[in-house]
Amino acid sequence: MSAPATLSVERHGAVAVVTFRRPDQLNAINTPMQGEITDTFLALGRDPGVNVIVVTGEGRGFMAGADIKEYAGEADDAFDAFQKRGGAMYAAIEDNPKPVIAAVNGYALGGGFELVLCCDLVVASSAAKMGLPEVKLGLVPGGGGTQRGVRKLGANRAAYLLMTGAMLPAAAFEQYGLVTLVTEPGELMPRALALAGEIATASPDSIRALKALVRVATESDLATGLDRERDAVCSLFRTGFARDRVREFAEKSAARERGKRG
Ligand code: COA
Repeated sequence: MSAPATLSVERHGAVAVVTFRRPDQLNAINTPMQGEITDTFLALGRDPGVNVIVVTGEGRGFMAGADIKEYAGEADDAFDAFQKRGGAMYAAIEDNPKPVIAAVNGYALGGGFELVLCCDLVVASSAAKMGLPEVKLGLVPGGGGTQRGVRKLGANRAAYLLMTGAMLPAAAFEQYGLVTLVTEPGELMPRALALAGEIATASPDSIRALKALVRVATESDLATGLDRERDAVCSLFRTGFARDRVREFAEKSAARERGKRG
């Protein structure tokens, strides 16, 4: 695979940072970028040296949506194909076996906000603005904005964003529970990397199971989710890693008890 032209990947130990790099276009997503994002996330998902992925953008944009200028010259079937490939791109993020943290530096609009909705955790700069403005073009989102938007924000908040195309500041999405942390712009990457580092050093088996279980909770009924959770904890209990941690805890506690008794 030749080096991608529209993004870069940097490694910080077991954390991979993907940075979108079309800053003069606010990282609007065109066809080559769509392919590079898909390939990059699939490759990082398979890379045994990567435990967590952080995704961010260079400049004022995280990703200002689909490249409207590319849309303008596009035949109907090319538009349809772009939407279909978009599904694969979002799946490469949402279904990635590694947790993906969005570090939203600036505008995350349309397809860019839909990409944020595919991430497991979101931190955002106070300079970030997010929304789903497709209605202003006489369209609707095509990358999951209506479906993941309703699931992650609630129906009425999603309907407001979808029907008005409003761009709201990061603080609003913190209130809605989508964003975990809003930072000063200069603090965004240090905070995102600290969070990623914390998760990267946790048990990868637990983290993989947790990612899947959170997804199950949003997509299945409670009984199914509870069964899956019980299967996961019972299977993790059988691993050497969990056995060792549980034994260490018990041994420490027994040693303290012996210490108290003199
Ligand atoms: N597609 C293509 N180009 C885009 C883009 C998009 N979605 N969003 C921004 N750009 C380009 C602009 O055309 C401009 O390029 P130019 O200098 O070659 O003309 C550059 O990025 C900077 O954008 P600009 O509009 O000048 O910045 P701004 O600060 O005035 O406004 C936004 C920022 C995000 C409010 C505005 O760019 C915008 O509304 N973008 C479209 C967002 C959208 O509708 N996304 C959903 C698409 S389905």
